[in-house]
Amino acid sequence: MGDPRLLEVSRKIEAFGTPELLALIEDMRDTMVHLDGAGLAAPQIGVLQRVVIFGVRRNPRYPDAEEVPETVLINPLIETLGSEIEEGWEGCLSVPGLRGLVPRYLRLRYRGADQFGAPIDRIVDGFHARVVQHECDHLDGILYPMRMPDLSKLGFTDVLFPGLQDSED
Ligand code: NI
Repeated sequence: MGDPRLLEVSRKIEAFGTPELLALIEDMRDTMVHLDGAGLAAPQIGVLQRVVIFGVRRNPRYPDAEEVPETVLINPLIETLGSEIEEGWEGCLSVPGLRGLVPRYLRLRYRGADQFGAPIDRIVDGFHARVVQHECDHLDGILYPMRMPDLSKLGFTDVLFPGLQDSED
């Protein structure tokens, strides 16, 4: 946080399956796994392209989180379904050491393509919907604290959640 690239609007991908795109996704995967994240957007490694990855199995950063399928999502479009909002705690690899309570739409449809251009079209809710909203926000230069109506609900992870294993941030 503080790097101006995180505040920019990223460009759409025009060509799929290219060595450059596959290498970018490899880089993003390595970074996400190393930092134990639930997701990562290309701008977080300084690449201003509309590429996000996410996926949660059992993640020590989110011990109560539902599983989310391993996904590469390019040029995403989000359509919210219903007006229901849910608050939930979020962290971000670009905002290390902190967690904040962020309102997100509970239910949405998202579309896009994978790294080879195959279409993705899913209706999701809960934590899966939260992760998608968080990661796609990065493509428009939005970090989760900018979505928080109440900054008294922003704090250090180890203070808010003393029992939580959180090695990297
Ligand atoms: Ni993030």
